[in-house]
Amino acid sequence: MNTEEAARPGASCDRQSPQQLIDAAAPVFAVLAGRRSVRQFSPEIPPRELVLRAIEAATHAPSGMNKQPWRFVVIANAGVKTEMVARVSREIETILALLAGDEYADRVADYLRNYATLFRSAPVVIAVLYREYGQVIASLLERSNLAYADNQEEAANPAMQSVSAAIQNLQLGAHAVGLATCWMTAPLFARRQLHALLDVEEPWQLAPIGYAASVNNNGPRRLRLDRVVRFIE
Ligand SMILES: Cc1cc2nc3c(=O)[nH]c(=O)nc-3n(C[C@H](O)[C@H](O)[C@H](O)COP(=O)(O)O)c2cc1C
Repeated sequence: MNTEEAARPGASCDRQSPQQLIDAAAPVFAVLAGRRSVRQFSPEIPPRELVLRAIEAATHAPSGMNKQPWRFVVIANAGVKTEMVARVSREIETILALLAGDEYADRVADYLRNYATLFRSAPVVIAVLYREYGQVIASLLERSNLAYADNQEEAANPAMQSVSAAIQNLQLGAHAVGLATCWMTAPLFARRQLHALLDVEEPWQLAPIGYAASVNNNGPRRLRLDRVVRFIE
């Protein structure tokens, strides 16, 4: 199988045995199996091309109705990153103060302080934003100015599902180019404070924060990279 065929899974199913197809896809499976959450980083800022390539991989994720409800803020500015850590830490201390005297909270306090601010050693933090949207039924009802109280579609939370797929792709894309990442929800208990710092405006909101460090012409159109990513340096 030549490189072009390998890039189009299934293109030559009739000629290749299952084992040959599996063998040809070995590099992809190695990336899927080899990604691990990394929580300690060397200080040098990774080349922008690598970070952007990983983000481009994120934008190849599927999304409900191809809404692409994601944006990426790349924070490579040490001052902004330090302030992110400070805001998360302040929020943790406020919550821990409320729990003062609680034996279990006392025991996990230091763990929590560390766990929620692990991104402090990352040279680059990628904040992933998403915005919620209604699926097909919600859109149909809205167009006709109708309401259906029992619409259970919202529970599927297509935006959260879609942005999660993008974060997964982001991590795999980063791993494929030698960058390490960790997906983090813990800092989000300071979501409002981080929104203010990073100029995140409604309806956008922070999804979990990833950190680090081919255009598919056959698939549906994707927003241009410069429309979904912004750097803070
Ligand atoms: C939705 C989600 C939230 C996570 N939040 C955190 C987090 O806040 N802090 C952290 O250190 N790891 C976090 N992780 C990473 C998981 O701990 C990690 O993926 C899991 O232990 C499996 O390890 P692996 O990624 O190396 O395979 C999160 C992962 C996911 C998918």
